[in-house]
Amino acid sequence: MPAQRLDGKAVAATMRLEIASRVAERTLAGKRAPGLAAVLVGEDPASQQYVKNKHKACQDAGLATAVHRLPATTSQAELLSLVAQLNADPSVHGILVQLPLPKHIEEAAVIRAVSPAKDVDCFHPENVGLLAAGHPRFYPCTPHGVLQLLRRNGIATAGKHVVVVGRSNIVGKPLALMLMQKPTATNPAAGDATVTVAHTRTQNLTEVCQLADILIAAAGVPAIITPEMVKPGAAVVDVGTNNVAGKWCGDMHESVWSVAGWVSPVPGGVGPMTITMLLYNTLEAAKQIDG
Ligand code: GUN
Repeated sequence: MPAQRLDGKAVAATMRLEIASRVAERTLAGKRAPGLAAVLVGEDPASQQYVKNKHKACQDAGLATAVHRLPATTSQAELLSLVAQLNADPSVHGILVQLPLPKHIEEAAVIRAVSPAKDVDCFHPENVGLLAAGHPRFYPCTPHGVLQLLRRNGIATAGKHVVVVGRSNIVGKPLALMLMQKPTATNPAAGDATVTVAHTRTQNLTEVCQLADILIAAAGVPAIITPEMVKPGAAVVDVGTNNVAGKWCGDMHESVWSVAGWVSPVPGGVGPMTITMLLYNTLEAAKQIDG
């Protein structure tokens, strides 16, 4: 029997309605609508599409949202000046600077310039530190989206062996942290799992992946996860977003569907969840800043 589908579109739609109703409650109570400022530098087509999708999702949920489009020739000083302006703007609760940035701009400097209170990506070192210590201010969007996608499909992580293939700052590293932590009142998304982190240099990748009750593919390599790597019945979450000859595909080979118990498709799996968790964080930032 082919795997069941981890339908990110469906879970995201449910969560966006929940967020929209909380946003409406706040505005009815006379509070400002949670505001997200997205900053896009340059003309990278994938980044343009991501920002467009984020902007539309914010509008649909009743958030106040603005996209600041800057040319690829923008200097680092000009970008930092815009970030400082957004940091000081009380109508902006969340700031997202879409990555990657043009090569002449130091990403780490821009990430550090965003006020940690408005860092809805959870990229600022202060927020990464809080997350690592088990006291998150925000959860990073894609890792949180993966955990919600599992939980809302009834797939528990507690006590399970989760193998994360990938060690990026955006996905693999923070997801491994969240998965291994013990849940508490202030860290409710923590996974309570046994976690192994593997990557493209892992020598016996097949054997390591075979241990997984839940396998997370986040290496950014098309079809790196093949059927012999998957324990029959395991859940496979595909975080890969690779553009191969104009077509989006994940990190998982299609034939994994016949071995796994659950699979998240690309597109329509983790992607819509990432955007949803950005809305969630913008609402969270508004609560933290405005009460
Ligand atoms: N580029 C790819 N993914 C992301 C993301 O989650 N946030 C930002 N700011 N840039 C990205």
